[in-house]
Amino acid sequence: MSSLVVVGAQWGDEGKGKLVDYLTSNADLVIRFQGGNNAGHTLNVDGVETKLRLIPSGILHDGTQCLIGAGVVFNSEVLLSEMGQLADVGKKVDPSRIVLDRDAHLILPYHEAIDMAREERRGKDKIGTTGRGIGPTYEDRANRSGVRAAELLKLDELRVKLEKTIEEKNLYLRTVLESERQVTWDEVWGVVERAAERLVPHLGNVSLMLHEARLAEKRIVFEGAQGTLLDQMHGTVPFVTSSNTISGAVLTGCGTGPRSIDHILGVAKAYCTRVGSGPFPTELEDATGDFLREKGGEFGTVTGRPRRCGWFDAVAMKRAVRLNGIDSLAITKLDVLSGVEKLQICINYHLNGEKVDDVPSLASDLESVEPEYLTFDGWEADLTQARKWHHLPQEARFYLSTLSEIVGCPISVVSVGPERQSTLFSSGGNFIRNFLV
Ligand code: GDP
Ligand code: IMO
Ligand code: MG
Repeated sequence: MSSLVVVGAQWGDEGKGKLVDYLTSNADLVIRFQGGNNAGHTLNVDGVETKLRLIPSGILHDGTQCLIGAGVVFNSEVLLSEMGQLADVGKKVDPSRIVLDRDAHLILPYHEAIDMAREERRGKDKIGTTGRGIGPTYEDRANRSGVRAAELLKLDELRVKLEKTIEEKNLYLRTVLESERQVTWDEVWGVVERAAERLVPHLGNVSLMLHEARLAEKRIVFEGAQGTLLDQMHGTVPFVTSSNTISGAVLTGCGTGPRSIDHILGVAKAYCTRVGSGPFPTELEDATGDFLREKGGEFGTVTGRPRRCGWFDAVAMKRAVRLNGIDSLAITKLDVLSGVEKLQICINYHLNGEKVDDVPSLASDLESVEPEYLTFDGWEADLTQARKWHHLPQEARFYLSTLSEIVGCPISVVSVGPERQSTLFSSGGNFIRNFLV
């Protein structure tokens, strides 16, 4: 029937999980297309919180099939434990419900060891990765030495390959990274055997399933992880993740063509956060930043690290709209801004006294930009019960409509709380509204 991409438009944690849960109530398929268990997507339904790293955020709707595409890298232990937790609360997680693409890459203990050893060596210049082995796994995919899910079907062949690989990885850890960590055969093979035993029934061909679903006019949601500014190519390099996070990654990550996408929804907070190192022009290292962190519960889902907070950055958002081809925006966490007396939106960057027309490419330039702000009156009212656009205070409506105008993109959805139903439509929300019925 139609398909919708949900993509992070900032530095991750925009509330993609909440939106995907909300938008999959009538969806047939939901597909993760990139990233891995560096993602942490939170759903809140009837007072119960569910945190997901690999399983798509449509899992709470019994009629929605959950697919993990070839573009994803997965830690099999995390995937199995997530399935176990969901089964414990009565969710169906059998192989007809959860399908892992045969070409998705497996994260193994040496990937995590290398990720962490590299971060330690970088010292104060560290990227602040999640330490989950994401970068080293994508590297192995690119250099053709990674392990794909389908290889779990031929353990004899995989054993020979891994004997060599483990030796090489340990040599690299010891001599290049000067790490004391050495991975053992038993720890790697234990992971492989458990994965082979439990995940093989879930292996499938997501590209083919998607093709058939399109022919059958099914309703499909593609769920992004991380955010546009963490894209390995177009983000704030080198302080980024190791996958393409933008909507273009749907095509490679699922094995489909551009015509499989009908609408691209960019998810953005009404302010901005970032976890890990790297430039952040609108960062607030003051009482307002602390207020947003506390009120917004801005602590990492995966690592528990405090998230850095700042004002909404319209320069970066215009770039996100362009890089993804965003058709409409979902603005989340508007409720968190209640009680801030004056709000600001960054409308321009100045570098060495000159206005720049896009986010600079070099991190050192982005560190040096001077943001130019537009100031807004805040509001006091609690927004968490608002369910219609006209329930929002006039100041909040003005803040959103001006934001939309500056960025040049309609707002379709506004989120005013973590709960599924704390969500309302704006006038730009027709596609999304129709998608739900
Ligand atoms: P994701 O990675 O994009 O799925 O986002 P996370 O789940 O990592 O972080 C978003 C956090 O904000 C979660 O704790 C959500 O429950 C919460 N959240 C989502 N939308 C809203 C909202 O509109 N208001 C508030 N207060 N919290 C929200
Ligand atoms: P979701 O899907 C926020 C950040 C890390 C680090 C950088 C590289 O929940 O929005 P990595 O482990 O990927 O090599 O780390 O990327 N990062 C995220 N930040 N949300 C995420 O995912 C993230 N996934 C990775 O903090 O700065
Ligand atoms: Mg998250």
